[in-house]
Amino acid sequence: MEARARCKMFSTFQLLLVESFILGVFTQLTGNISEHKIASFDNPIKSSATVITRLDHFVVQQDTGEVYVGAVNYLYKLDKDLKQVDNISTATCYEETCLNYNKVLVLHDGRLITCGSEFKVSAGIDQCQSRRPRDLVGDGNQRNQVVSYGTRSTASIVAPGKYNGNPSTQLYVATSYSPQADYERVPPITRRLLVTGGGFMFAGGEDTTELGPYNVPHL
Ligand SMILES: *[C@@H]1O[C@H](CO)[C@@H](O)[C@H](O)[C@H]1NC(C)=O
Ligand SMILES: *[C@@H]1O[C@H](CO)[C@@H](O)[C@H](O)[C@H]1NC(C)=O
Repeated sequence: MEARARCKMFSTFQLLLVESFILGVFTQLTGNISEHKIASFDNPIKSSATVITRLDHFVVQQDTGEVYVGAVNYLYKLDKDLKQVDNISTATCYEETCLNYNKVLVLHDGRLITCGSEFKVSAGIDQCQSRRPRDLVGDGNQRNQVVSYGTRSTASIVAPGKYNGNPSTQLYVATSYSPQADYERVPPITRRLLVTGGGFMFAGGEDTTELGPYNVPHL
């Protein structure tokens, strides 16, 4: 029985979140782990493809303690007690090999911004969505590609910027470059305005750093 339980642990993926670890971003972790809340649940990827990562990112809503988790093919919302209260599929197809890694997960100004590694223009599925934190539903808008495919690395930060000479918050995204076909459409560095409303994730002409293959390291 015990062996079976152990076997199940290794064969199924579990997201483990330690509350004090999350708060530890802002405060010092003290005490031992058995005194802290732990949440655990499966991320059911029915895939024959090799899954490199299963939990990609998490963010905490500081006012409410709610936690958003970006995983492969799913986004999860947990309440402050780390109980799963919502989830939404981000899979872009139904085939077994379909894997959509979460590449960007940002809470900003009452919106949850997500970008996945896959997109399907024909099916109207875009890489990046501005979602309602309440139910994780995306706005369905089409946006230019800003993140790399598959497991290639992507880094993002929200930082101050300027638009038309005025201060504005921007999302900066950097991706590893590849000369592969299709890939060249993904700029190595982009920035997007995070102004609530119609211009959300809008990019001005100067907001994409167009670097050719000769001045970008092949990572
Ligand atoms: C960790 O906490 C548990 C529960 O409070 C306690 O029984 C245990 O002795 C503690 N372990 C250490 C190393 O302090
Ligand atoms: C998503 O939420 C539904 C409804 O609460 C639940 O039945 C389902 O198991 C959840 N899916 C995952 C992948 O956790």
